[in-house]
Amino acid sequence: MQKILVTSALPYVNGVPHLGHLVGCLLPSDVYARFMRMMGHEVLYICGTDEHGTPSEVGAAQEGMDVYDYCTKYFLRHKATYEEFNLSFSYLGRTSSEQNKELVYHIFSKLDENGYITEKSVKQVYSIDDGRFLPDRYIIGTCPYCGYDKARGDQCEKCTKVLDPTDLINARSAISGSTNLEVRESKHLYINLPKLEAKLSDWVKTKEPFWPDIAYSIAQKWLKEGLQERGITRDLKWGFPVNKPGYEDKVFYVWFDAPIGYIGITKQWSDEKPDERDWKDWWLDAKNLKYVQFMGKDNVPFHSITFPATLLGTEENWTFVDYLKGMSYLTFEGGKFSKSEKRGIFAEDAVKELPADYWRYWLMSNAPEASDTSFTFDGFASAINKDLNGVFGNFVSRVMKMTASKFGEEVPEAAKFDEIDDKLVLDLKEKTANYIKYLSDLEFRKAFSELRAIWVDGNNYISATEPWNVIKESPERASTILNICLNLIRIYAILSYPVMPAIAQNILAKFGLTVDDMPSLNGFEVGGQIRYFKTGHKFNVGDPVFERITPEKTEELKQKYGGSTNEV
Ligand code: 2FM
Ligand code: ZN
Repeated sequence: MQKILVTSALPYVNGVPHLGHLVGCLLPSDVYARFMRMMGHEVLYICGTDEHGTPSEVGAAQEGMDVYDYCTKYFLRHKATYEEFNLSFSYLGRTSSEQNKELVYHIFSKLDENGYITEKSVKQVYSIDDGRFLPDRYIIGTCPYCGYDKARGDQCEKCTKVLDPTDLINARSAISGSTNLEVRESKHLYINLPKLEAKLSDWVKTKEPFWPDIAYSIAQKWLKEGLQERGITRDLKWGFPVNKPGYEDKVFYVWFDAPIGYIGITKQWSDEKPDERDWKDWWLDAKNLKYVQFMGKDNVPFHSITFPATLLGTEENWTFVDYLKGMSYLTFEGGKFSKSEKRGIFAEDAVKELPADYWRYWLMSNAPEASDTSFTFDGFASAINKDLNGVFGNFVSRVMKMTASKFGEEVPEAAKFDEIDDKLVLDLKEKTANYIKYLSDLEFRKAFSELRAIWVDGNNYISATEPWNVIKESPERASTILNICLNLIRIYAILSYPVMPAIAQNILAKFGLTVDDMPSLNGFEVGGQIRYFKTGHKFNVGDPVFERITPEKTEELKQKYGGSTNEV
């Protein structure tokens, strides 16, 4: 048994999560955490909301709210959605917590003491009417290259030219529209990444055989290009005030305190039960621990370069990421998710339309691991109808109904196994071992394609053995076949639990079982599990576990979420 620390990237609190967030970090981390618990490990699974930065300030101002209250409102909305999706966090915290502040101050002070912090004076745009400095993307104006009148100070969305705010014609504040702007000097603190580069590069090299390509190559690319000093302070009000004389009116940059948030949130967790939990067991001088991070690929540089460099600079023995699962993007019907164009389905709407496990299954079995995945409603409906309803669900209801009608709602007796039964067990052993290996290796697409193949084998077995015919000649043989099939159903529920926890529980409940009755997947012994039920074990056919998604429903979803230029 090992300690397994699992963290999901912390979604920004402003805005609500969509399917892309789910598949990019939330679901893969949940599936992995569930799986590792089933393997008998001690898992700590941390997530939370990333709360600082300009977008929260601006969002709060737009809603006429205090920034902290605004963050609380959206934190609760995230939390409710995550509960709907059955995400099994050990703790869902917030980067704005006192605990995180304490850790940010500690880490910053160590970096400063060790000589990794430098000061620079920079020129920035100040909005006199807004009474604040404006980050580049909060300055808008006319693009000098294409004339687009809503170009942002960092880039023109129309012609994609990278801009400097001073390039813009008629520059104005994106917050108030004021043109009363001036350039002011401001002093900022930087982390001296070049000074940490050699140490960091040695550390990254040790990861080559373990990290997936996408993560390792992004880290290498950054190192090859040479690291630059990076600003870790900002002229904002919302954030942790900088704990250094002369900088009290500035706050730490959101990307400085967000990854430290993993530690801060662990401390929130341990502060709730200080007698039982200690955050340091997971983060400082931790022994026998594996740390796995999940994130979208745009977050990889922060997790493979800046955050590890920050920790290295403290010269303390922090836990470093062992495996970094970076995910590619999910596109929506071939394009981008867009809130303003109503293209794309938000997580909180998705669960109102269909059970969470349908989304969980589709997203994980089509996870954008090596390349981007395109979500389409047709593809989604077809996979749910074929894999879940047609293969898995059909097997469950067919077996249960047939047994109930021939033998009553109890597990009939099994006699000696025939050759075909032994073959089924042998195949199941092999596929289950593959499935467990793929999940251990975080190869989700392969894992769930193997799981599907396991369900298919059940269907093939019942078609080949024809218990409905056999019963006429040999009730004993039919009873054995159905006994095996009922045992298969239980095994399928157990194996499906990491990805479809609610469906798995529903199936187990038909046998009067709960998740506490599930065996460990570590040393999962198919030969024994296929003989789990005692003769006469009661079950209840109940309702079907899946429902088909009708063409009408698919159309309705497309209409509602497929994007429309007519709507505002
Ligand atoms: O991309 C995002 O949504 C960021 N808020 C992720 C932060 S991950 C971690 F560093 F907190
Ligand atoms: Zn332009």
